[in-house]
Amino acid sequence: MSAANEYKKVTTHALQEMKERGEKISMLTAYDFSMARIIDDANIDVILVGDSASNVMAGHISTLPITLDQMIYHAQSVIRGIDRALVVVDLPFGSYQGDSKEALKSSIRIMKEAGAHAIKLEGGAEVIESVKRILSAGIPVMGHLGLTPQSIFKFGTYTVRAKEEAEAEKLRTDAQLLEEAGCFGIVLEKIPAKLAEEVTKSISIPVIGIGAGAGVDGQVLVLHDMLGITKEFSPRFLRRYANLYDDIKGAVEGYISDVKSRDFPNDKEQY
Ligand code: KIV
Repeated sequence: MSAANEYKKVTTHALQEMKERGEKISMLTAYDFSMARIIDDANIDVILVGDSASNVMAGHISTLPITLDQMIYHAQSVIRGIDRALVVVDLPFGSYQGDSKEALKSSIRIMKEAGAHAIKLEGGAEVIESVKRILSAGIPVMGHLGLTPQSIFKFGTYTVRAKEEAEAEKLRTDAQLLEEAGCFGIVLEKIPAKLAEEVTKSISIPVIGIGAGAGVDGQVLVLHDMLGITKEFSPRFLRRYANLYDDIKGAVEGYISDVKSRDFPNDKEQY
């Protein structure tokens, strides 16, 4: 039996209620129709059409190359596969930084062309003008603080963020700013669990963690990582629920062998 709640459709309001009554929020990424359909059927609360599509779908080494048109294509595919989940779509690198009018235009395209329910962007004070402008058009916004992969070339590494007090203090302030601006939630990525718990308690909107410990309001993982489709990525926070790389490889090897040996197709598998 599924442990999911009774919501027929998950809304930003439902997420707020879940935080208030202490029910943990489940979130996973998806980038295509078939996977979205499976995880929506399993009653996931939130689907993130993450710009991690740049890595796991397109094979790039970072999230920077993916374009707004490509994100919209992924979001359209996901939206066609869901009945229940809230679908949040990442604004890709270059579609919002430094120009709040462009940020609004990009967000409107995602909402209009894909039928998404909300957008997510990375950063705090630096993007607050964009956050406010997007919200002023009635588009729900989710923040993303801590390890923000679109800034990877500034950080230089994927190690844990905000271990030093100055960075932790900026993160606390940014979380407050995002809440005050009207964001419906925040993702905290790869920061110390103690800091994530403190931030979660200090703001009233839901906080979803990835590598941010258990003291947050919910968890998010990249679907391909938790299903074991990606092999090489093994951070401490990642729990694998399947080993699909080996399962798929084994199935394909079986198929090749059956074709080569003339076992497939047999008499019942033809007309
Ligand atoms: O793009 C993504 O998958 C994300 C998650 C890691 C939160 O932003």
